[in-house]
Amino acid sequence: MSEPIERRTFLKRAWQAGVALIAAAGAWTSWDILRSVPASGLGGVVKTVPEQEITEVPVYVRSAQAYLTRINGDIVGIWQKCPHLGCRVAWCESSREFECPCHGSTFNRAGEYRTGPAPRGMDRFTVVTGGEVVELDTGDVIEGAPRGTQTIDEPPAGPRCT
Ligand code: FES
Repeated sequence: MSEPIERRTFLKRAWQAGVALIAAAGAWTSWDILRSVPASGLGGVVKTVPEQEITEVPVYVRSAQAYLTRINGDIVGIWQKCPHLGCRVAWCESSREFECPCHGSTFNRAGEYRTGPAPRGMDRFTVVTGGEVVELDTGDVIEGAPRGTQTIDEPPAGPRCT
């Protein structure tokens, strides 16, 4: 006499447990998809190298598509993207300038405009120091200095690379 009731109760509880499990899985999946995750890589904060490794010779950080160098003692992060039409600007050891291979714009070691069709100096990223390594916030682009800005007086040191 009691068997049908126990079976009904069992099925009811099993059904309730299944629904609760599915609801929990759905809630977990939704949370996992919607939670905010700090961005990393280009467009987010990129970890680079220890502060002491940054000198006056620009070092290229591929993951940030940027150069790190010291200008008057301060660390600056210079985006590789040419402010003319977006080509990758390269550092030239012989001229000690940044040179764009596309249309020939040149920039001094601080990324400031020197020659060519570029409308301004190279853009920069915010630099965060104080940790184990220097970080570049590649989501925070600082527009390059206008033409005519020259915070350093370093004429080309030798022949151009381009
Ligand atoms: Fe660099 Fe044109 S894209 S000078």
